[in-house]
Amino acid sequence: MILGILGSGSGSNMQAILDAIAAGSLNARIALVLSDNPDAFILERARHHGITTGLIDCRGFKTRFPAEAQQETAARLQAAGVNLVCLAGFLRLVKHPLLDVFPNQIINIHPSLLPAFPGLESWQQALAAGVAETGCTVHVVDVGMDTGPIILQQSVPILPGDSPASLHARIQEAEHRLYPAAISKLAAARSEIEPG
Ligand code: GAR
Repeated sequence: MILGILGSGSGSNMQAILDAIAAGSLNARIALVLSDNPDAFILERARHHGITTGLIDCRGFKTRFPAEAQQETAARLQAAGVNLVCLAGFLRLVKHPLLDVFPNQIINIHPSLLPAFPGLESWQQALAAGVAETGCTVHVVDVGMDTGPIILQQSVPILPGDSPASLHARIQEAEHRLYPAAISKLAAARSEIEPG
């Protein structure tokens, strides 16, 4: 698997993928890391590991991922030989044309047990709803918001006295195991379809 990572923030999920590769539990390589945020720590982490990085120019839009920027992103990912795009804390909705260039080849990690609590700050949504457990999901990205087919999920308990920060931290621990496992699952499925 040749991975391209899109992220807007800290990049702890990308780090977990790198750690799984280094430990030999995930047979993959990260070829390119792109961010829409020049200050995102994910870029620094990637550079530290000698991975090529780049900025996505969203033309000043705060939340939109304009079509021109998606075209440029697709071209860079293709030029790097990427065959699986991993969204890791990427806070813009990916739509056409990027989805057309990588059909069923873009996956996302989301901090809830989808279909519950799509959108932003899902740990906060779970606390507000008063549920006993939440979790995380790795899913294929489609045109909806956090709606594509689910690859793997992991539940996480909500404990008495949890704050948004403590709950998010517990979800992230689960994410760091789940994301590499989901990529391995996809790799195994692909090698069954294309042996050798
Ligand atoms: C993760 O918790 C991820 O689930 C969440 O952003 C965080 C990124 O952390 N993503 C979303 O909320 C997407 N809707 P990271 O940059 O340390 O990997």
